[in-house]
Amino acid sequence: MGSKRSDASGSKAEKKGKRGKAPKSVSGARPLDGRVAFITGAARGQGRSHAVALASEGADIIICDIAADIDTVPYPLGTDAELRETASLVEATGRSCLAMVADVRDTEALAAVVAAGLDTFGHIDICVANAGITGFSKFQDLDDQTWQDMIDVDLTGVFKTIRAVLPHMLERRYGRIVAVSSMAGRMGNPNLAHYVAAKWGVIGLVKTLAMETANKGITVNAVCPAAVDTPMLHNPAMYSLFCPELAEPTRDDVAPRYASMNRMGVPWLAPEEISRAVSFLCADDARATTGQVIEVSLGSSAGQH
Ligand SMILES: NC(=O)c1ccc[n+]([C@@H]2O[C@H](COP(=O)([O-])OP(=O)(O)OC[C@H]3O[C@@H](n4cnc5c(N)ncnc54)[C@H](O)[C@@H]3O)[C@@H](O)[C@H]2O)c1
Repeated sequence: MGSKRSDASGSKAEKKGKRGKAPKSVSGARPLDGRVAFITGAARGQGRSHAVALASEGADIIICDIAADIDTVPYPLGTDAELRETASLVEATGRSCLAMVADVRDTEALAAVVAAGLDTFGHIDICVANAGITGFSKFQDLDDQTWQDMIDVDLTGVFKTIRAVLPHMLERRYGRIVAVSSMAGRMGNPNLAHYVAAKWGVIGLVKTLAMETANKGITVNAVCPAAVDTPMLHNPAMYSLFCPELAEPTRDDVAPRYASMNRMGVPWLAPEEISRAVSFLCADDARATTGQVIEVSLGSSAGQH
């Protein structure tokens, strides 16, 4: 599925000529003018917010989403209609958007998105590996499929997403890569062994790639949000985990439980608050920040590290 594109960002030939150089600085220029960002899991939630935020700073956008459910995930995932809605929101900022259905577990599907993105825009400067799932189970009750799906999407999916775009970034000697981990990747978390393992894994992957690309114009960082106000957090399955004593817990019921998990006593963050950290890491002038983990965590780890 490709969305309609605006002409706001210039011709394909112009874009192809830019290579890895920073766009010319003109008065009123925005930080990401001339840049192109590829974001996974962007039908809704944080991915949508990142797409709109980076577009608002001047970038053209490539988005993908699975737009289908996964049997072991206890809530519905994004839809094709939501993916198209994200594309419309990006276009409303005046930037172009290429939107495609792709599963981050699928190497060929990701290669197709990157190829279509390069064909459309000529280059890709930014990669935000955001797509993810969650679920919960006591360690001893985790079955093989639930474990495998989690690792395949939340860890291997990040690897495959970055690998799909890395050769192009290496060739241009420019790249800003951000992987979305979680505060679950900074500590243990009962009932979430598979999610925690995947999110810790993302940080190891990020740090290693940052070392391999540090002298090649490419930065690689992780963002670790605390609870964020998205469908991943707000669904009946998650509510029941936090309020097992209630038959049908509501948003109001779970709010104090979520709030108790951080120092600020705030139940959840807005997706836009995570986008600010992503935007910072995607800017040209964040070139000195690589291999880092930025926690947007309401102080939840302040007493730990
Ligand atoms: N919501 C939170 O509290 C929270 C906290 C910390 C970290 N995170 C992480 O933030 C990221 C974004 O999550 P969100 O909160 O926006 O959740 P969300 O469920 O609202 O959005 C995730 C999107 O990823 C898509 N997706 C899932 N599997 C995919 C796959 N295999 N291929 C392509 N797309 C796929 C979904 O369809 C959905 O549109 C995830 O990596 C998540 O683990 C979320």
